[in-house]
Amino acid sequence: MCGISGIVDSEPIGTRLFTSIRNLEYRGYDSCGIATLHEGQINARKNTGGVDEVNSTEQLDQLPGTIGIAHTRWATHGGVTQENAHPHLSMRNEFAIAHNGIIANYQRLREQLIQQGFEFRSLTDSEVISNLLENAFYEEQDLEQALQSTLKKLEGTFGLVMISLHDPERIYAAKQESPLMVGLGEGTNYVGSDINAFLEHTRRAWVLEDGEYAVLDRERVIIRKFPSGKMVQKQVLQIEWDLETTKKGGYSHYMIKEIFDEPQTIRQVLKVPDEQIQKLAETLTGATQTYLIGVGTTFYVAQLGQYFFSILASRFFPVVSSDEFRAVGQVQPGNTVLAVSQSGETYDTKHALAMAKERGAQTAGIVNVMGSTIARMVDQVIMQGSGPEICVVSTKAALAQALILLRMALLAGGKNIPEKRRNALNQSLLDFPDLIQQVLNEKSGFVRNLANATSHVDHWLYLGCGAYYPVAMESALKMKEVTYCHAEGMPAGFLKHGTLSMVEPRVHSLLFVPPPEDAVLHGRTMVAMEEIRTRGGTVMGFYFEGDEVARPLLNHSVKLPPTDPVLAPVLQMIVAQLFAYYVALDLNRNIDKPRNLAKSVTVG
Ligand code: AGP
Repeated sequence: MCGISGIVDSEPIGTRLFTSIRNLEYRGYDSCGIATLHEGQINARKNTGGVDEVNSTEQLDQLPGTIGIAHTRWATHGGVTQENAHPHLSMRNEFAIAHNGIIANYQRLREQLIQQGFEFRSLTDSEVISNLLENAFYEEQDLEQALQSTLKKLEGTFGLVMISLHDPERIYAAKQESPLMVGLGEGTNYVGSDINAFLEHTRRAWVLEDGEYAVLDRERVIIRKFPSGKMVQKQVLQIEWDLETTKKGGYSHYMIKEIFDEPQTIRQVLKVPDEQIQKLAETLTGATQTYLIGVGTTFYVAQLGQYFFSILASRFFPVVSSDEFRAVGQVQPGNTVLAVSQSGETYDTKHALAMAKERGAQTAGIVNVMGSTIARMVDQVIMQGSGPEICVVSTKAALAQALILLRMALLAGGKNIPEKRRNALNQSLLDFPDLIQQVLNEKSGFVRNLANATSHVDHWLYLGCGAYYPVAMESALKMKEVTYCHAEGMPAGFLKHGTLSMVEPRVHSLLFVPPPEDAVLHGRTMVAMEEIRTRGGTVMGFYFEGDEVARPLLNHSVKLPPTDPVLAPVLQMIVAQLFAYYVALDLNRNIDKPRNLAKSVTVG
């Protein structure tokens, strides 16, 4: 996690550097800082708090200089304090670094440096890097050599940017497991954790691989491998993302803006060529064993995919949370592992894929961020094309992934699905963007009222059967993330096996009610609803028009227009996103950046 960036130019870069970390703030937001080189010294300002908050006290954007680095932090080692915020200066203030990742052997390195007379100002693992650089420079008298020998000593993960008084015209950057990209400008160059660091200035990027470092000046960028020093030639990544989608566009939060982007997100998903999805469907169905993996929201999206493959293609693919994959995934050659990841940088998912590769399995991904590690490491990738998702909680990206999995299952089912059924589902998919637009337009005010009426509720049970079960799980996660309220998701049939003892009027249950024509699932959901009502629990439900069985039993409800039964749970997932948003709004939560979280979890 953490966002890092750097800019080298001939014009002052304070404002641009500040904007770069504001644009990366979803990667971490407990503290931030900037260091620039100006008139023979390094000026650094940093403090605790979000980027705007720190800027209001520290005037980060006013720092003079035409070269500098910046950081926005999600703390791992060392608490959230001003001293622990980045950039970290070396003891003699000759080097400044900003780091994303974890230096596993930092304690040993720190002790060695202390023995050599170095003093430390912070409790972070990262500060050893600036002092190692300074130490190495005094031994080697060459900055690039000093960087190389420092990198050799580091164990762990790093995306690293560095400036030094000893080379005031260049930024040095290095990558090992934490993402890093160079943005190629005209008479100016950029480096950052991801595209958003420089998207407003350039759309041409080089993606650094593990074991590579970059030296950037205004006119050129040189990439080399470490430790060999061998020069690397790179292909330019042309970034196609629309800059407008990174803006809030009049909405009060990115979350609601991104929910309202969803009709467009679906249109993008429908543009992914059939052949591409078909090819991956064949890889999955042709493997001796296919696993679907993801973590957090993407785990639930993968579970939803599991139901789609079961319903439409009669295939069962185990779904494993990426962080547990090492523990249970018995991967062998001939198997395929499909990972779902918005950022393409999630540590747990990357490592699960790395294990799969090591063991000779095929790997595949559904990924949003172009040039990300997962997009590049897998054998087959589908870029979901959802554009930048800025809010820390995933909405439109998760929707896109679910629909790509649905399309994949539909193609995997192929001719085994009766033609009439296939055509009907395809037509509903085509109609889905307009249907979602209609629901957003017509229901959001209603959902907001419902949220206001229930925002005092501290404990929620989210229940669903069949494909509504992963939707209940994902929706409960959304609720927890953004409102900090307790919401427990489970299969509706699971309730009576223990959790029912919690039910009382103060505990509210949200039921994801299938359309009545989905008779078996509808019936099972009704049973759970009755179990709750009989015990005095308060029941809220999302149900479909024409359902006269569910409606009278619900204390609160949202009535939804009909859609294909396979798409119905996806529609409810969107309504649950709206509900979580409006509860969070009523509770005055930090919606786009909920406490303790970060969007891209690049540590294990
Ligand atoms: C989603 O709302 C969460 N912020 C989180 O669970 C996220 O889905 C998870 O960390 C996986 O991230 P990824 O999709 O970038 O791999």
